Amino acid sequence: MRQNIVAGNWKMNKTLQEGVALASELNKILATKTLNCGVVIGVPAIHITEVVKAVDAKKIGVAAQNCANKESGAYTGEISAAMVKSTGAAYVILGHSERREYYGETNQTLKEKTDLALANGLTPIFCIGEVLKEREANKQNQVVKTQIEEALFHLSADAFAKIVLAYEPVWAIGTGKVASPEQAQEIHAYIRSVVANKYGNDVANNTSILYGGSCKPSNAKELFAKADVDGGLIGGAALNAEDFVGIIDAF
Ligand code: 13P
Repeated sequence: MRQNIVAGNWKMNKTLQEGVALASELNKILATKTLNCGVVIGVPAIHITEVVKAVDAKKIGVAAQNCANKESGAYTGEISAAMVKSTGAAYVILGHSERREYYGETNQTLKEKTDLALANGLTPIFCIGEVLKEREANKQNQVVKTQIEEALFHLSADAFAKIVLAYEPVWAIGTGKVASPEQAQEIHAYIRSVVANKYGNDVANNTSILYGGSCKPSNAKELFAKADVDGGLIGGAALNAEDFVGIIDAF
């Protein structure tokens, strides 16, 4: 059966020293606990090597927040999936709405990134989600379906089985406006049905689908209690250990 996961996305926050301090603090707290979910932290690429050293890999997986859509070569400033893997990260967040919006990522480039991530043994945490206008026009299902179809449905069932999905309604990211547990459940169930139609019930039932968007200790329990919500992708509340652990404790 699918794994419950609480993943943090630090975004462009924390210096190296601050990041290592946060990872170490988290590691220390989690060492005393029996976890009922997987825990991942998505850190700036430049921090990965040191953060990997600071945490117990059995309890905390480390993710990059992006990787290149090219294998290697003259792509100044880019970081390849092979490089990410070589630092000790096990995951890579792909297709975050901020990358789609500010850095022009398309379903086509995300398809290429996904292939390279998988080829290098990384687990993609693949983000999908609609903007407010689309939600207001009741187009959210079509939007997430197209995002999944265009970026992921070229994969074999075996390859797709390695993907973690994260549904992040853009209107809920960093806004303090959280999807209601019912809204989250409704679209997570729909996303699972889209996966089931393509790959069958086994693959769909084994796919972890995380919710992201203003998830906090105060609302995580209600969200995670829903049948098709398998954890969270956490932004702001992942930036301090107390809040992040509060969300982990929701399981
Ligand atoms: P917030 O939790 O800050 O809303 O961010 C969510 C997010 O974008 C995680 O990837």
